[in-house]
Order: sequence, then structure tokens, then C-alpha cells
Amino acid sequence: MNDIEHIVNEVSEKIKNSDIAALEKIRTEYLGKNGVLTHILKSLHKYSIKEKKKIGSEANKAKTFIENEIEKRKENLKEALVNEKMQKEKLDYSQSFYFPFAKGSFHPVIETIETISSVFKSLGFFVAEGYEIENDWYNFEALNMPKSHPARDTQDTFYLEGMRNLLRTHTSPSQIHIMEKQKPPVRVIVPGRVYRNEASDSSHSSTFHQIEGLTVDENVTFTDLKAVLTEFVGRFFGSALKVRFRPSHFQFTEPSAEVDIQCFFCGGKGCRLCKNSGFIEILGCGMVHPNVLKAVNYDSEKYTGYAFGIGIERITMLKYEIDDIRLLYENDLRFLKQF
Ligand code: PHE
Repeated sequence: MNDIEHIVNEVSEKIKNSDIAALEKIRTEYLGKNGVLTHILKSLHKYSIKEKKKIGSEANKAKTFIENEIEKRKENLKEALVNEKMQKEKLDYSQSFYFPFAKGSFHPVIETIETISSVFKSLGFFVAEGYEIENDWYNFEALNMPKSHPARDTQDTFYLEGMRNLLRTHTSPSQIHIMEKQKPPVRVIVPGRVYRNEASDSSHSSTFHQIEGLTVDENVTFTDLKAVLTEFVGRFFGSALKVRFRPSHFQFTEPSAEVDIQCFFCGGKGCRLCKNSGFIEILGCGMVHPNVLKAVNYDSEKYTGYAFGIGIERITMLKYEIDDIRLLYENDLRFLKQF
């Protein structure tokens, strides 16, 4: 019995200071085939039944105790290891560091979209997204451009395989999608990329961007259109500039207009930028044609609306005095870093 007590004390002491490998050694030394405790259990036959019971039970208790102590120590060691690792890998968020890359900036086209959107958002417009791939109905038919209508000639595009789908030539198809999905009142702008079958030169590109605007409700008049667009021009270009609504034609608006602003380059005297006219065209607009409202099953007697389309590249080029549209698509960092 004394031996057992002694063994337990001895092992407890050893376990306290052991690492994982040493623990395995202790296990074999005391509990293995030739272990000290195993030896005691094997020699029980030497004793009387009474002694056997007592010693046997004590020895078994000691065995369980040692096994538990070894496991406990193992767990503690593992935990300590994890803690140590966490301590080592802890991030110091307050530490300043050198970041070897230049800070990026928005592309001027995106910048313009953001600025225009924020003006219209402040005027109560929601921002929506359209589809770049459309079909004939959305891009033309529903916008009052029936098949073989000459108005289509100005908007040739790229057709996808099978000719069923095409790349949209303007953001106006989103008008149809929105009106198909919701009842009036509608008040949205839709920025996006558009495509035309166009040879590229300093002012034309086969891919460019527009922002579509659409308001439909009861009692919407041309006065509302003028007010909103004049407000937009004032906020975007500065309110000192004159705004001109010049009669024009679009199939999906009636009446239609183009909006010109006084040339901010020459102040209206006439220069290269405004081609000596004193004004610069910035967008197309008009009152939504009743046929368009009918195409989306809106009651054209009850509702009226206005729409407009702004060319993003044109405005960006005016704002930053960029004289070649192609510069916007070349991803030349020497160019982009200026913004
Ligand atoms: N979609 C026309 C274009 O691309 C612009 C426009 C939009 C005109 C909405 C009137 C109303 O030329």
C-alpha cells in the first residue's frame, strides 16, 4: 500500500513538468506491460484474499488516476500551444505600414455617372439597372420603331447568333422593362453601357455609356421636364449657363427636344468646341409617346411622362476637356492617373 501511495506521488510530480513526449514515457514506465503499477497488479496472487481486494482496488484507482493526470496534462499543453500560436500571430491593427501600391481612382466615365446619379437621386429619382443584351421588341418595337422604319437606320447594332438578340443601342429599352414591372408613378434613372455599329474616331465609339431618365404619373407635363433638366444642368455645369430646348425628333417621345447648354469654353461667343454655335448639345428628351405607354399597357389617357437620355462620354469629355473619346477606353495609366 505504501508503494502505491509513493508511486502516485512520484508520478504526479513527474507529470507536472513533462512535455508530450515525456508523458508517453511515463505511461509506459508505470502503466505499460512491464510498468511499475502493472507489476503490482500482476503479483496480487501473492496476497491473501482480503489483502488482494484492498491492494487491487487501490492499484486500480492509482492506474485510473495516473491515466487521467496524463490526459489532463496533455490537454493543458495543447491549449498552451494554441495560445502561444495565437499570441504570435496576433495582428496589431494600430500599426502603420508602408503600402507599396498607388491609390486608385474612379474612371472618369464612372465618376460622371456617379455625379449625375447623385443629382437625380436628390431630385427623387431611383437608380435602376438594365440589360445590355436586348431583343427587337425592347430596343425598337416597344419604343415605337416598327420593323423597317427608317429611324432604325441611325441605330445599327451588333446582332447575336440567330438574330434574335442584339446589343442595345441606347438605354431606352430599360424604360420598357421598368414600366412592364411596375405601375405609375415611375421616377427612375438607368445608367449603362450601349453599343452601335460605328467606325471609331475621335468622337465615336462602338461602345459607350448613357443615362436614361423616365418619369410617368398623372399630370406630368413638359414644364416638369424643363424644370428637372434645367435643375440638373445648373447643378452639374453651374447655374450661370443658359439652357436651350431645341425641337428635335425621337420615335419614342412626342414632342421631342435636344438640350443645349451655353458653351462654357467661350461663354457663347463661338469656338472650336461648340463649332461656333455658342451652344453645346448634351442630351435628348421629350414627352413619352402614347404608343410607348400603350406597349406596356399603361392607360395613355390617364398617364403622361417624360424621358431623357444623356450621353456620358460627351459630358465627361466636355468636363475634362478630353478631345478624343478613344482615350477613355485605352486603360493607359498615364491618362487615367490625371483623374
Ligand atoms: N435613346 C435616345 C438616343 O440614344 C435618347 C433619348 C432618350 C431621347 C430618351 C429621348 C428620350 O439617342
